Amino acid sequence: MSTRTDELAGGLLRHIHEQIAASDLTYEEFGALKQWLIDVGEAGEWPLFLDVFVESAVEQNAFKGREGSKGTILGPYHLEGAPVLSAPFELPRREDEQGERIVMTGRVVDASGTPLPGAVLDAWQADAEGLYSGFDARLPEGILRGKVIADDEGRFEIRTILPAPYTIPTEGPTGRLCKAAGWSPWRPAHIHVIVTAEGHEELVTQLFFDQGEHLDDDVAGAVKDELVVKPEVGPYAPERSFSYDFTLATVHASTPDTAGAVA
Ligand SMILES: [Fe+2]
Repeated sequence: MSTRTDELAGGLLRHIHEQIAASDLTYEEFGALKQWLIDVGEAGEWPLFLDVFVESAVEQNAFKGREGSKGTILGPYHLEGAPVLSAPFELPRREDEQGERIVMTGRVVDASGTPLPGAVLDAWQADAEGLYSGFDARLPEGILRGKVIADDEGRFEIRTILPAPYTIPTEGPTGRLCKAAGWSPWRPAHIHVIVTAEGHEELVTQLFFDQGEHLDDDVAGAVKDELVVKPEVGPYAPERSFSYDFTLATVHASTPDTAGAVA
């Protein structure tokens, strides 16, 4: 028995019961709900649904008050094992890769501004059609995924292309929910990054682009003002570039937590 499970599952059920009464739910609607829940499972879309509609709230709660750069959701498209890139630190691309070339630079530092040499940036993104390698057969494996190690001053460079906005899959039950509810299925263009350095908390984040579409109606609710960058023509001209410093929180001795209590 776990009182934590009782608190979480019991609380969720109470919210559902209250919503049933508030919305005067009919048996017909209950039947449609049951079938939809079954459909989500059969389509293998529970990871998608949870990452899109629930993870953002979990992330905001888990890291409220944490020092350093803002994080946001991991999402469903990260893959382990991306290669470590050497100069010129270009995310793997096809010979005819479409999309505007851009350069991302910056430093990885701790909360006092001290550089973190050897910090690892694991970056992945959609292509100029909004597709992810490893999840869409139209892209060769490994495209637009790679790791970069920060240098002795904590500096890094990543050469890539401007990703496109994309929709979550619209044909399955999660997409049907968006359509039925009148919700936008779009995510704004973004580059995913996980930044790690010894003795510091892992930072899972995304960078979005100034004046990009769908910053205000991200289906995943993952945009934060601090994560919007503005590529400009500068030191890497003619390519546009932007600089973003990742500040990592120091790992503090943790108090006993509730991990595993739900199991
Ligand atoms: Fe993404």
